[in-house]
Amino acid sequence: MQYRPLGRTGLSVTSICLGTMTWGEQNTEAQAHKQLDYALDRGINFIDTAEMYPVPARAETQGRTEEYIGSWIKARGRRDDFILASKVAGRSEMEWLRSDTNKVRQTAAQINEAVEKSLRRLNTDYIDLYQLHWPDRPLQGFGFHSYDDYDMADTVDMVDILGALQRHIEKGNIRHIGLSNESPWGTMKFLELSGKHGLPRVASIQNVYSLLARRFDYGAAEVAMREGVGLLPYSSLAMGLLSGKYDDGKAPKGSRGDLFPQFLGRYELAQELHAAKACNDAARDLGITPTQFAYKFAQSRDFVTSNIIGATTLEQLSENIDAHDIEWTDEMEKAASDLHKRFRSPVASA
Ligand SMILES: NC(=O)c1ccc[n+]([C@@H]2O[C@H](COP(=O)([O-])OP(=O)(O)OC[C@H]3O[C@@H](n4cnc5c(N)ncnc54)[C@H](OP(=O)(O)O)[C@@H]3O)[C@@H](O)[C@H]2O)c1
Repeated sequence: MQYRPLGRTGLSVTSICLGTMTWGEQNTEAQAHKQLDYALDRGINFIDTAEMYPVPARAETQGRTEEYIGSWIKARGRRDDFILASKVAGRSEMEWLRSDTNKVRQTAAQINEAVEKSLRRLNTDYIDLYQLHWPDRPLQGFGFHSYDDYDMADTVDMVDILGALQRHIEKGNIRHIGLSNESPWGTMKFLELSGKHGLPRVASIQNVYSLLARRFDYGAAEVAMREGVGLLPYSSLAMGLLSGKYDDGKAPKGSRGDLFPQFLGRYELAQELHAAKACNDAARDLGITPTQFAYKFAQSRDFVTSNIIGATTLEQLSENIDAHDIEWTDEMEKAASDLHKRFRSPVASA
């Protein structure tokens, strides 16, 4: 298992990170624990979760994913064996995330509530990497195709957000901070403000990135490289489309596309363009599986720190970890580049 530095924190994380957002919806507590046991046994030391999980986000299930990780930590007592990342939601209509307001925002009071509740659910004293899940700014994410401007006066001051996070670092509740679904401007602004005011520096950025979602290459990648804010790509298997199992145009029974078709909405254009199938066919022509091509592509970018994988079964998890064992060749790079020239980035996001 390969290790890479997590920004400038001094921590080393494995170049594969275990995603958890299906736990509590598609996966039971026992299955979550088995995935954790298996991933750690395979050498993975990096786990990603969020206060909002599982998905689809619902008031009835919110927090279950962290609870399952918490019950595993309690049962196994292995808290120091891995780097734990969680997230606080950004501006949202999900009023049930907070106890005393229907406006979910990244104010200091709401960050305090979110950190305290996550620590309780996780059965831990500290979260290693605490990420802003998406911005407090009303920046369109999760599948947008054009930019709409907004009023900065109606946003929480980014210095106040960093200040609230700093107080949790001082208390020992969190160790480092990161961004998610953030733009190049937002990343640079956070870096500028932390330098100017002596506030914590962001260590990572977690955005969508895959053979079908390459917007990060256009600007954000340079920020990641120059500023030491590595990408933690999510959905690099395009939620399963790049495993090849949707190639006949149907969602297999029990898959995310079958259970929650709304998720694959952001991949509609990719499907219309037959881009996903073209990626999968290119993999087969290279003599590798679509899953190997998709995951190894993401992991092999210079600006990537750790590739966040997702699985609903142990078989998938095993296959997905193995997928990273292949060597990324010039021939594979050319195939990925040709696909990019042909389809650009049919999946949009921050
Ligand atoms: N920051 C954010 O906003 C954000 C957003 C999304 C995800 N994330 C993080 O990233 C993690 C991974 O995201 P993701 O689940 O979308 O990643 P993904 O790797 O693109 O998709 C994983 C899904 O694809 C299917 N799959 C996985 N391996 C497979 C295989 N070998 N063969 C066939 N199907 C397979 C499974 O779904 P089915 O079995 O249901 O088909 C699995 O849940 C999440 O758990 C979360 O931690 C963060």
